Amino acid sequence: MAQAQAQTQLKSQRSERDWPFKVKPLHPLLGCEITDITLAEAVSPALFAKVYEAFLAYELILFRDVDLPPATQVAFARNFGEVQVHVLSQYHGYKEHPEIYMLSNLDKDGKPSGKHPDRGTLYWHTDGSWKERTGQATMMYSEIVPETGGETEFADMYSAYDLLPGGMKAKIEGRRAIHNFDFSRTRRHGEDPLTAEQKAKVPPVAHPVVRTHPQTGRKAIFLGDHAESIEGMDYAAGRALIEELNAMITQPAGVYTHRWAPRQCLVWDNRCTLHRATGFDEANEIRVMRRCTIVGDKPF
Ligand code: SIN
Repeated sequence: MAQAQAQTQLKSQRSERDWPFKVKPLHPLLGCEITDITLAEAVSPALFAKVYEAFLAYELILFRDVDLPPATQVAFARNFGEVQVHVLSQYHGYKEHPEIYMLSNLDKDGKPSGKHPDRGTLYWHTDGSWKERTGQATMMYSEIVPETGGETEFADMYSAYDLLPGGMKAKIEGRRAIHNFDFSRTRRHGEDPLTAEQKAKVPPVAHPVVRTHPQTGRKAIFLGDHAESIEGMDYAAGRALIEELNAMITQPAGVYTHRWAPRQCLVWDNRCTLHRATGFDEANEIRVMRRCTIVGDKPF
């Protein structure tokens, strides 16, 4: 019932807008496809402010059939803000564009390697939550996608907060979670952990469990797989609370599953969504994606 009410309210808020392009919702709670303009037009001074409004309203925007060479991807991503250079330098796809994080299962001979490039991405998370200034947006481009699997799922963290039972809201009021990239990387991709140098660059950081989106003013849950413990709480109790919450906030009704086709560009808001990739046959299929994360601010 509460979910249906939230959906109706959202629908009217969005339809009141007069967009200078076509907007097609992808899910009742989040996501839209933008058509009738090219991505190059979308980032032009004339249109970007409106595109950014759609990004804030829908949390995720999709452009299909886009040619997006790496240099253009970085240039487009810069319209959203400063583009991060990821601490895991082994994923930098291009020497001249260190802002691009490559997710590819191709080996050096161009054959499927049989390995997932980053198993951490298979668990619900939000990009860069392990940094002081967390991810604002992520722009992902699909070069090659598998026939089966390899989708990306997105969960809406506004409704996740709105729908939490009162008792749970009271329990997490004012709480901060400690996000630790070394923890999540070791847990999910332990054969290739952070080096001592990488670890020194990303010390654990505390962020509110409920954050206020700096632009929409709405409250959203801010947790996911990088959250290790709860400040001021016994470690095991904090872990149990994080696991319980991570399950509660990713219920299927609040999740949009994106089935990729090649040449798509998706930009999502890391401040009000969690996402995860789904698996695929890494030994026989190919998945090559390029990601740029745009730096945001310190959550409050
Ligand atoms: C990510 O977790 O940032 C990437 C998701 C994906 O590969 O679908």
